[in-house]
Amino acid sequence: MCGIVGYVGSKPAYPILISGLQRLEYRGYDSAGVALLVDNKLQVFKKEGKVAALEGLVGEQQPLSTIGIGHTRWATHGEPCDRNAHPHLSNDGTIAMIHNGIIENYAQLKAELEKKGYTFKSDTDSEVLVNFIADIRLHNNCSLEEAIRIALKRITGAYVILLLDNEMPDTIIAARKGSPLVIGVGENEHFLGSDASPMLAYTKDVVYINDYEMVIVRPDELILKNLVNEKLTPFVQRLDLDLAAIEKGGYEHFMLKEIFEQPQTIFDSFRGRLDVDQPLLTLSGLETIKDKLLAARRIIIVACGTSWHAGLLAEYLIEELCRVNVEVEYASEFRYRNPIIDENDVIIAVSQSGETADTLVALENAKKQGATIFGIVNVVGSSIARMADAGAYTHAGPEIGVASTKAFTAQLVVLELFALKLAEMKGTISTARLRELTAALHAVPEQVQWILDNQLENIKQVAAKYKDARDFLFLGRGYNFPIALEGALKLKEISYIHAEGYPAAEMKHGPIALVDENLPVVFVATQDPFYEKVVSNMQEIRARKGRLIAVVSEGDTVAEQLAEDVLTVPKSHEMISPLLAVIPLQLLSYYVGIELQLDVDKPRNLAKSVTVE
Ligand code: F6R
Repeated sequence: MCGIVGYVGSKPAYPILISGLQRLEYRGYDSAGVALLVDNKLQVFKKEGKVAALEGLVGEQQPLSTIGIGHTRWATHGEPCDRNAHPHLSNDGTIAMIHNGIIENYAQLKAELEKKGYTFKSDTDSEVLVNFIADIRLHNNCSLEEAIRIALKRITGAYVILLLDNEMPDTIIAARKGSPLVIGVGENEHFLGSDASPMLAYTKDVVYINDYEMVIVRPDELILKNLVNEKLTPFVQRLDLDLAAIEKGGYEHFMLKEIFEQPQTIFDSFRGRLDVDQPLLTLSGLETIKDKLLAARRIIIVACGTSWHAGLLAEYLIEELCRVNVEVEYASEFRYRNPIIDENDVIIAVSQSGETADTLVALENAKKQGATIFGIVNVVGSSIARMADAGAYTHAGPEIGVASTKAFTAQLVVLELFALKLAEMKGTISTARLRELTAALHAVPEQVQWILDNQLENIKQVAAKYKDARDFLFLGRGYNFPIALEGALKLKEISYIHAEGYPAAEMKHGPIALVDENLPVVFVATQDPFYEKVVSNMQEIRARKGRLIAVVSEGDTVAEQLAEDVLTVPKSHEMISPLLAVIPLQLLSYYVGIELQLDVDKPRNLAKSVTVE
């Protein structure tokens, strides 16, 4: 949450900052701002709303500068407004700073500064921090770099900060703890960003900065240090990422592009890992912790949001196939409830961004207690990927739409592979069953393509028909229960319609009271061992005049008769079928959002990468 960019070199900085902020808007879009240094004077422009609003403010008067920093905000302290937008200036106007994260002890620091006569224009913790740094520099008569080091020892919380000093026309200083920071290394120029997307058009050589590190960046110099002022050697990596991967490529929205990419991304997530003929599974990360896994007392899956739904499905799969206890935990709860963990536990972390603060801290706590961490992460080089003992990337490519779609199906594929490989290692799966499941998995890309080719018009019509509903209920059993949860989450995020996901049978224990002739109830009713029970649940809703929509397998006649509208997916194995069933639900939420003329790529209040707890 919050996107940060920086540039120092010989090109005009403003257009680079603006295009970088546009690429990072998925991290927050409450306000945007830039600071540039012109003739030793800091010029700050900031505006509530999206980057386009900032561009409107600056208009033709683009400052001519070759150094600058920029920020796109997801509000934590203080409402979204011009005043609270970043960058913030120190009271004496000599330092401009942008910040991603939360300073937890800001109130105490603010009180100290107020006693010294400092005043604050905003309600943010960030303005407190820039003044705290300025005050230290003044009273210790030290460099900005030293003042930052002293300040960072006193603050608690998470941060990436970028600072400009009006006396240093060629230097950006940055530091990180708990939020991501990447430096792009160009020829006589450097780029800074929350991720690599702002710099991809200029360079593929990047340095990932670790926690408790700071960088002093000049056009021809990148100095990396720790917080005790020791120099470190920057590790420059070459990115394997194309600009096309982070552009819309002719689609109206990233969300639609990413839904349509799924035949390819699902294939990419099992490519090289699955040989159906043998059948043979290769998941090298899993081999490296084989002993730990075979001895594990239980597996704990830790995640948030959509990634948690993938984890929930994995609980069903792993318990069924591997006969080992699995617990699925919301990272935000797990990290604070003092869980009993030891060296016999294996933790699977599921995260698209690899930066989710709650997941990261939950893992760090578990690691300290001896657990082994296996990361299932999309963003290469992210914090979770780097802290895990072993892992498997999901290979979905950059996901820019704030609501997760292709990252979710890629997570499901890797979790399916994990379950199958572990079952094979434990000897809890027969070759025949393994063959059946790997063949079913292998068929998924083509089957997803079938849905995209054959169901689009139908789904658009269903979306138009139900777009004015006030509430939705999503129901499913067994492997389809996590899909019901995911369908409800997607709809809420994209359309702001209230939606609840429930286990279909649990519906009788409360939510059925909601059912009347206005309530659309979406059943995930594909062919599986629970199908007949789900059909009974559908009858119960129909008897109460609820409006039934059903996701059914091709060739279904029973559920199809009962439902007012059906969304059809190809037949598959019950353990693989959720990968198909979720696709029409993603499209349904997309088209309801479009019908309601909402910003589907950037739904209100959300941010893609939740780097604050
Ligand atoms: C929903 C969504 C979120 C994320 C959650 C975890 O569409 O995207 O619920 O799944 O914030 O994020 P990651 O997977 O990056 O840890």
